[in-house]
Amino acid sequence: MAFDRGKFDEIIAAFTVDPAHLREVAADFRHDMRLGLAGSPDSSLRMLPSYLGLPTGEERGDYLALDFGGTNVRVLLYRLEGNGTYETLTQVAKPLKVDRSYDYVGAGATAEQLFDFLAALVDEAIGGDQKTPYLLGHTFSFPSAQTNIYDARLIIWTKEFAVRGVEGAVVNDLLKDALVRRGLTNVTPNAVVNDAVAVLLSAAYINGDTEIGAIYATGHNTCYLEPYAGSAAQPTILNMESGGFQKLTPNRFDTALDEASEKPGEQRLEKMVAGRYMGVLFDMVLAELLGTPERRRGFGSVDIGRILEDQSERAHAAADIVRTATGRTLAAEDAVLVRELARAIVVRSVRLIAATFVGTVWQTAGAGKIRRQHIAVDGSLYEKMPYVGENMRRAFSELLGEDAPLVDTIFAGGGSGLGAALAAAMTEQAGRG
Ligand code: GLC
Repeated sequence: MAFDRGKFDEIIAAFTVDPAHLREVAADFRHDMRLGLAGSPDSSLRMLPSYLGLPTGEERGDYLALDFGGTNVRVLLYRLEGNGTYETLTQVAKPLKVDRSYDYVGAGATAEQLFDFLAALVDEAIGGDQKTPYLLGHTFSFPSAQTNIYDARLIIWTKEFAVRGVEGAVVNDLLKDALVRRGLTNVTPNAVVNDAVAVLLSAAYINGDTEIGAIYATGHNTCYLEPYAGSAAQPTILNMESGGFQKLTPNRFDTALDEASEKPGEQRLEKMVAGRYMGVLFDMVLAELLGTPERRRGFGSVDIGRILEDQSERAHAAADIVRTATGRTLAAEDAVLVRELARAIVVRSVRLIAATFVGTVWQTAGAGKIRRQHIAVDGSLYEKMPYVGENMRRAFSELLGEDAPLVDTIFAGGGSGLGAALAAAMTEQAGRG
């Protein structure tokens, strides 16, 4: 059976962001930033204050970091050495979910169970030491309303998380209680940051020239340093929760995916671009092309990456992955189309994200010139997915023209962990922890 070519072309067109639309998304994003800064309910960006500016690069000392919010949870002990340098002394990591074993993502788990799991990992990272005092920075990668650097309440779960009893709670209190239950009264969480904020802190510590940070992984989000020019307020990193950006034109697959998700109506950009959802979109389109209604065959962004890494003429990887998942053997020309579909999903994702980056650059430049700057990005998709770098650059040049060479993205690997340690150090130095 060969795919219906007309239908295939219609689907690819529905996943294409042409230059005019790209520009529209960038402009709408900037507009939403402005509305958000003015406190307008019409903004789809939350613009959450982090209560942190940028680090000086001279932060020093040993700090624990708990990095929670993606597929894996990690605990690390960092030695910050000043001068933008650091050492990772210890690192432990565990998946949050193991099939047929445990699941700290879904609604089957309670807050207490989840945070006991996190505390056990902290325990492992410090080898059961219940004496040495540690300050811990907590990267909690969900929209949280903060009133200070310690006190962050989860507003709403994203990325299909659904653990009971966390929404509305102060997450560091949940963590502290779990550490106490574990006997770790020597570990004090003193700061909580979003992962995008942590990435910006880490890049500013190491590189300088960076005022925008982002995550491109299971989820997607961007933050930036808001200068509050002309007002008395201190420059503060704002977590935009850009995955919640709404001013988009979802196609029928996006709409169906949203309707079947844990939180319909929320995180519309994220559902079009992030790793958690790419495989689901791919699966939905594939089901339609194959004429098989059943979905949820568990494709992930890793499968999409594998399909795209294979440059062979007959797209063997695409055929293998589809055969393993569905039992269907594709003709070579269909396997090539499946690869094209995977590419269209990825390229759309990169272009939409690039447009939001440019919207942010425009907004921070204001009426002035665009500064030379890096946008720091952490996450497996940015690191590993084929076609990301080149499409990001292409979109920047479409939107920024001759200013495009001033702006680039840099990989801030591990920034979501390091940034938590920096937040703990900055909080301690400010006498707040
Ligand atoms: C989701 C979360 C956001 C986080 C992002 C990346 O969008 O809501 O807080 O930064 O995922 O992990």
